[in-house]
Amino acid sequence: MEANKPNTTVPTARILGIESSCDETAAAVVENGCTILSSAVASQVELHAQFGGVFPEVASRQHIRAIYPIVEQALKDAHLRLGDLDGIAVTRGPGLPGSLVVGINMAKGLALGSGLPLLGINHLEGHLYSAWLTHEGKESAEPPQFPLLALIVSGGHTELVLMTAHLQYQRLGGTLDDAAGEAFDKVARLLGLGYPGGPAIQKAAQEGDPEAFDFPRSWLGGSLDFSFSGLKTAVLRVVRGLEEREAELPVADLAASFQMAVVDVLVGKTLQAAKEFKASEILVGGGVSANQLLRETIQAEAICPVSIPPLALCTDNAAMIAGAGCYRFSAGQRDGLDMDAAPTWSISELG
Ligand code: KG4
Ligand code: ZN
Repeated sequence: MEANKPNTTVPTARILGIESSCDETAAAVVENGCTILSSAVASQVELHAQFGGVFPEVASRQHIRAIYPIVEQALKDAHLRLGDLDGIAVTRGPGLPGSLVVGINMAKGLALGSGLPLLGINHLEGHLYSAWLTHEGKESAEPPQFPLLALIVSGGHTELVLMTAHLQYQRLGGTLDDAAGEAFDKVARLLGLGYPGGPAIQKAAQEGDPEAFDFPRSWLGGSLDFSFSGLKTAVLRVVRGLEEREAELPVADLAASFQMAVVDVLVGKTLQAAKEFKASEILVGGGVSANQLLRETIQAEAICPVSIPPLALCTDNAAMIAGAGCYRFSAGQRDGLDMDAAPTWSISELG
């Protein structure tokens, strides 16, 4: 990969994005880093629900079935052909290796056939760039204010990142064990709420008392890292205890108390980092940023502006990959057809 020059201007480019890192097969066309011309997502959620989580082998096979139609759909919805584009951006990592290669191979085939440049994009960078996307004809989002403090919370990641300029990152901390979304998914399974766990817990919590159980919050001595395994074990202990006594599970109270404990820590540490690094703006992205309590709490408690993408752009999609791709394209990134998947690619390796 060629080095990227820092770029603070709005990019002029029309990019096709492809995403297949986990359980959504997606393609989208984005113009100038901010305008969504199309965004098509084929979700595998129902397929994986029967296993209670993402089954990697099943995911890759489903990506193979879905990838070609979803790219065709994205181009059709944008009323464009490959020749109308400037480049093809694809999620290179992090993610499931067998899923990533499906999107990457599709992108390589399109790049080879059309002569368009290929760009490998970091999935977490994509989640950040989802904050500045809007659909064609809608009012554009406020431009970012740097230094910007980002919390990325998804099924695989919980990261605090300082963004000093476009494409410039400093990783401040992350989870030492389970990701926030993973904790939601595991606790939902414990409570018999099904997959994906985040929306199920949020729904069950609506009827519950968030103070019914005093679950632990891991502050880790003021560090900017996270740990959710102790919280998950605490919920497990309560559930096992109630089951042994054959008592009915107060599912709503357990869900509400668990959700409150996760949100307390996510918001507490994000605000701490924003203060420490004098952030001008806070950005929250990734699947867990769809959580209503998290959205409301951080908006209410932050002393600087907070950007959170609309719900459809919080979970995995390809518009975010195309959006980041516009900036990477303008900064001069071009990848070769020998580009490999990067299943464990950290955002700290980006600059
Ligand atoms: O970003 P994403 O779609 O995929 C990954 O990159 O992992 O995030 C999926 C995660 C899942 O763990 C899901 O349970 C969680 O996001 N999630 C939520 C909510 N909606 C999705 N967690 C809490 N509350 C929600 N409303
Ligand atoms: Zn994601």
